[in-house]
Amino acid sequence: MTVDRAQLEVDLLPQFLFSGKTPKKDSFAWKLLLVLLIGLCGLSICFVRVGQKNVFTEAGIFGRQAVSIAHCPNLSQNSTKDIQLHYPKPRRYQREECFCTPVHFFVILSMQRSGSGWFETLLNDHPNISSHGEIFGGRERQYWNFTFISKRLDSVYNLDYKSSAAKNECTSAVGFKWMLNQGVMEYHREILSYFRRRGVSVIFLLRRNLLRRLVSILANAYDKEMKLLNGTHKSHVHSKEEANTLAYFKPVINHQALSESFHHIVRLTGNALKAFNSTRHTVVYYEDLVERKEMLEQIQEFLGVPILTLRSQQVKIHTKPLSDQIRNWDIVYDTLNGTEFEKFLVDTQYT
Ligand SMILES: *[C@@H]1O[C@H](CO)[C@@H](O)[C@H](O)[C@H]1NC(C)=O
Ligand SMILES: *[C@@H]1O[C@H](CO)[C@@H](O)[C@H](O)[C@H]1NC(C)=O
Ligand SMILES: *[C@@H]1O[C@H](CO)[C@@H](O)[C@H](O)[C@H]1NC(C)=O
Ligand SMILES: *[C@@H]1O[C@H](CO)[C@@H](O)[C@H](O)[C@H]1NC(C)=O
Ligand SMILES: *[C@@H]1O[C@H](CO)[C@@H](O)[C@H](O)[C@H]1NC(C)=O
Ligand SMILES: *[C@@H]1O[C@H](CO)[C@@H](O)[C@H](O)[C@H]1NC(C)=O
Ligand SMILES: *[C@@H]1O[C@H](CO)[C@@H](O)[C@H](O)[C@H]1NC(C)=O
Repeated sequence: MTVDRAQLEVDLLPQFLFSGKTPKKDSFAWKLLLVLLIGLCGLSICFVRVGQKNVFTEAGIFGRQAVSIAHCPNLSQNSTKDIQLHYPKPRRYQREECFCTPVHFFVILSMQRSGSGWFETLLNDHPNISSHGEIFGGRERQYWNFTFISKRLDSVYNLDYKSSAAKNECTSAVGFKWMLNQGVMEYHREILSYFRRRGVSVIFLLRRNLLRRLVSILANAYDKEMKLLNGTHKSHVHSKEEANTLAYFKPVINHQALSESFHHIVRLTGNALKAFNSTRHTVVYYEDLVERKEMLEQIQEFLGVPILTLRSQQVKIHTKPLSDQIRNWDIVYDTLNGTEFEKFLVDTQYT
C-alpha cells in the first residue's frame, strides 16, 4: 500500500467516527457503514481484552495514537542473532496486519560507483526490505549538522520517510545508503552513538578493484556532460545497448595522481571500518556479489528477512577487460606494476 492511500484512510476514520460530520458524497455512505461495522467488531474485541481501558486508543485501527504494542510479543525477550528489533509507529499510517512485525534498522555505507545502486535494487526486490537510496545526497550538504542528520535518520527508521522504495506496513528491515563523503566521517562519533543506541546494523559495501571504480567514475562524469543516451544522463542502465553506448567512452587516466588517489580511498575505508567497528556490521565486496549468488543470501540472513531469490533490472556497463577501457593503458600499467596496487591490473573477472 502506498503512503498516500494509507494516509487517507487514517485521516478519514476519526473524522467520520467522532466529529459527527456527514460525508459529502453518497458513495461514502457504504464506507461509513463498513467503518462502523469494523469499529463494532473492534469494540467487542477490545472490551473483552482490555475491559475498562479507553477502547479507541487500544484498538489499533482508530486514530493516530491508536497503537498499543502491548499486544505484540515482547521484543526485549527476543535477541535472536543479536539483531535489535523495534515496533515503529509511523506518524501517517497504520501498519495494518503487520502491526506486530518487528523491524530491523540497517544502513549501507559505501562509495560512489561501487555497485551500491545495483545492490539496492536487489534489496528492494524483497517484499520486506525498504532501502531508501541516498537520503543525504542533496547539494545543500554544507548546512547540515547532526540535529538535521538525526531527524532524517529518525524518519527513516520510524517508517515515515517517503521514497519509491518504501513498502511501509510489512517492512521488516529498513535502511538507506550513505556514501562515506556525505557527512558520515565528519559526524562519525555522533552517528556511531546513534547506531549503537538504536541497534542499526551496518553493511559496508566496498569495491576491491579501485581502478575499475575509477573508470566507472570517469565515464559517469563524462556522460554527465555529454548525455550519450538521447540527451539524458544515466548513471545506471537497463539494457545491453545502453550499456554499450556508455562503455564506448574510454577515459585517459592521470597516472601521476593514481597512487595518491588509491591511497586516499584505502585510508578513508580503513577509517570508516575502524569508526564503526563496534556496531553489528558486515563487509561486502561488490566483486563477490557479482560472482557469488550465496552472498545475497548471507546478506538477507544478516538483515533477518526470509531468504528469497532477488533480481535487478540493471545491466552492468563496463564488461570488457580493463586494457580495452583505458586509453593510456600502457602508462597506467607501468605506473601500477610493482606497486601494492598492481592487483588491480590483473583482471580475472568479466573476461
Ligand atoms: C519485556 O521483557 C523485559 C525483560 O524480560 C521486561 O523488563 C519488560 O518489562 C517486558 N515488557 C513488557 C511490556 O512486558
Ligand atoms: C520470539 O522468539 C520466539 C521463538 O524463539 C518466536 O516464536 C517469536 O515469534 C519471536 N517474536 C518476535 C517478535 O520476533
Ligand atoms: C513480509 O511481507 C509480507 C507481505 O508483504 C507479509 O505478509 C509478511 O508477514 C512479511 N514477513 C516478514 C517476516 O516481515
Ligand atoms: C542545524 O541545521 C539546521 C538546518 O540547517 C538549523 O536550522 C539549526 O539551527 C542547526 N542547529 C544547530 C544546533 O546548529
Ligand atoms: C533513443 O534513441 C534510439 C534511436 O536513436 C531509440 O531506439 C531509443 O528507443 C531511444 N531511447 C529513449 C530512452 O528514448
Ligand atoms: C575491529 O575489532 C576487532 C575486535 O574487536 C579487531 O580484531 C579488528 O581489528 C577491528 N577492526 C578494525 C578495522 O579496527
Ligand atoms: C612489471 O614489473 C616487473 C618488474 O617489477 C617487470 O619484470 C615486468 O616486465 C613488468 N611488466 C610489464 C608488462 O611491463
